Amino acid sequence: MEQMKGRSLLTWLDFNANEIRSFLELAKTVKAQSRRGELTQRFTGKTIALLFEKRSTRTRCAFETAFGEEGGHPVFLSNQDIQLGAKESLEDTARVLGRMFSAIQFRGFKHSAAETLARYSGVPVYNGLTDDFHPTQALADLMTLEESFGDRGKKKLCYIGDGRNNVARSLLVICAKMGVDCTVIAPESLTPDRALVEKCTALSVASGAKLRFTNNLDEVEGADALYTDVWTSMGEEAKKDEREKLLRPYQVNQALMDKTGRKDTIFLHCLPAVKGEEVTADVIDGPQSRAWDQAENRKHTIKAIMLATL
Ligand code: CP
Ligand code: NVA
Repeated sequence: MEQMKGRSLLTWLDFNANEIRSFLELAKTVKAQSRRGELTQRFTGKTIALLFEKRSTRTRCAFETAFGEEGGHPVFLSNQDIQLGAKESLEDTARVLGRMFSAIQFRGFKHSAAETLARYSGVPVYNGLTDDFHPTQALADLMTLEESFGDRGKKKLCYIGDGRNNVARSLLVICAKMGVDCTVIAPESLTPDRALVEKCTALSVASGAKLRFTNNLDEVEGADALYTDVWTSMGEEAKKDEREKLLRPYQVNQALMDKTGRKDTIFLHCLPAVKGEEVTADVIDGPQSRAWDQAENRKHTIKAIMLATL
């Protein structure tokens, strides 16, 4: 883990498969410790700034509780509280935060803002979601997938819906790195961008992951997991009506779950979910759903990321 110290997590593109595996193993250890009720104080004397331009339930609570219960001091700062590019350059804010905090979490719009914070603060910066990537989510997703199907052997995940959003993009990267087959089922206008597809396709050669991009829902056949996310991500509210029309046929409902031909296919969702849109209530609240384990795993994986890098 020594080579992880001081590193930022902005996207999984910056980490190799062995490193991602070590985060996952640490997350499993952290979860087991939590289940046993072990009390540890591994962040004593440390501080983290939690910067939020967009709303959050899981990410904020995961960072805040994971850091605080280990003796660290998290400070929540929304863009109503600090300058974050208004009245003061982001570079200057980064320099100042780097003098006061051990680490920074950033959730916001532009991915370049996370990069600027990392460049100028001199402390690890964790991307808690930008328009482009949601890496801490993808680690929890993989952990949840492995809890159901083990960490060996081929796995097939189908992501259905808005294939160009932050969650889909991060899943694609982590699957490409870790050898998980990933099929993105989306209308043509919402498939991941060419540059990312090319990068991930190149990565998949080493890992053996099969990546597919299609609008054919029959391709869910044999899938271990069906994954979806909201049709309209934060910041894209103006597109709501258009997305509803475009994505209605891609709703994950019981008929689509059954189309995999397997009774043990699990359902995954990063949450928050709009029940009745991207997923029906019977599926997300039903026996095949692992969405709630996935939400819990956000905390264990985030704690592991901080433990490894701080
Ligand atoms: N999945 C996720 O990032 O949830 P929040 O938006 O509530 O943080
Ligand atoms: N794609 C969603 C994820 C929320 C966790 C969004 O960006 O709003």
